[in-house]
Amino acid sequence: MAILTLPDENRTIEDAGKILSYLAGIGIDYERWDYSRLVGPSASPAEILDAYANEIETLKAQGGYVTADVIDVNPQTPGLETMLAKFNREHWHDEDEVRYIIHGRGVFHIHPREGSVVSIEVEPGDLIRVPRGTWHWFNLCESREIRAIRLFQDPSGWAPNYTETGVDSKYQPVCFGGTYLPSQTL
Ligand SMILES: [Fe+2]
Repeated sequence: MAILTLPDENRTIEDAGKILSYLAGIGIDYERWDYSRLVGPSASPAEILDAYANEIETLKAQGGYVTADVIDVNPQTPGLETMLAKFNREHWHDEDEVRYIIHGRGVFHIHPREGSVVSIEVEPGDLIRVPRGTWHWFNLCESREIRAIRLFQDPSGWAPNYTETGVDSKYQPVCFGGTYLPSQTL
């Protein structure tokens, strides 16, 4: 389960029901997907997409997504820092940002037009949809690795539009799950 933090309020929400209702209140779709069918950690992108084919088709029908792929980065990934620097500043997309986390951890910061900035630490089994136009930014956790299914309405048009407000610099990406929580039982 994701860990939700409201840095401005010094508040962390770990109760599943409260996380779901809070995210729904700011327009973020969040689900947990059945983890038991997950293929092994060394599975190819094709094997991952095949394992989740039914869910992907359901999401495509719901959100008008036309393609899916697997993003797979780790500290050995060439150009990792450059890639991360594109997304760790506040931005929005003209498309939804949909991610299903297979491996690794990361932190989405969501900046609602009204209300507090929210930090969402995602982990394997989390499905998150950040609607188009939502101000947000993303960081990896300490292990600097993540593997996730992505869905696109138009992959050629998926690019960050920066707000250039600098608000992102006021928030440190804090990951809790990999440090003090016991191994997740999914
Ligand atoms: Fe983004």
